[in-house]
Amino acid sequence: MTDSIHPDVKSILFSKEEIHEATLRIGKQISKDYQGEKVLLVTVLKGAFIFMADLARCIDGDVEVDFMAVSSYGAEAKSSGVVRILKDLNAPVEGRHVIIIEDILDSGLTLKYLLKNIKARGPLSIEIATLLFKEGKQQTRIDCKYIGLLCPDYFVVGYGLDYNERYRNLPYIGVLDESVYS
Ligand code: IMP
Ligand code: MG
Repeated sequence: MTDSIHPDVKSILFSKEEIHEATLRIGKQISKDYQGEKVLLVTVLKGAFIFMADLARCIDGDVEVDFMAVSSYGAEAKSSGVVRILKDLNAPVEGRHVIIIEDILDSGLTLKYLLKNIKARGPLSIEIATLLFKEGKQQTRIDCKYIGLLCPDYFVVGYGLDYNERYRNLPYIGVLDESVYS
């Protein structure tokens, strides 16, 4: 992958260097906050897979990873808050320190559901780490301890984020050209 911009991307919002800096900052914070403790990174597929892979390597400590896949019912680009679990965690989270890893916190409805669902399984603690936080879009209050970058209200792709399963492999985060979805 070269650094040249994809023709469907209008502009680069966050370069790979900016993403790396944000990831490293969160990794250092998590290393400090969980010193001497085991932490389980629960990755929300598919969007968060690249962020988790990079974040895990920025954490100095005892880390395990697990994966969940969810899908929102309803319109494709919008979260309805009704979430279906497509793939559940492999292992129980009871008595463990859990961090949910998300790509982007938009309406917050997906995370609200996930938090409630995982909390019910009796973890020792639970926090959220999101790479992107869309400003002013939250429809529900979510306590997110680790936030990478504040994202203006554009539809963004790259670094794991897709539109119709495309663009996840872009090394930067960019604004998708409206011509692609209009
Ligand atoms: P929420 O439930 O509205 O917070 O939606 C969260 C999920 O919607 C994210 O995990 C993404 O998968 C997807 N999403 C929200 N905004 C964008 C975007 O700008 N680009 C790509 N996916 C997005
Ligand atoms: Mg997602």
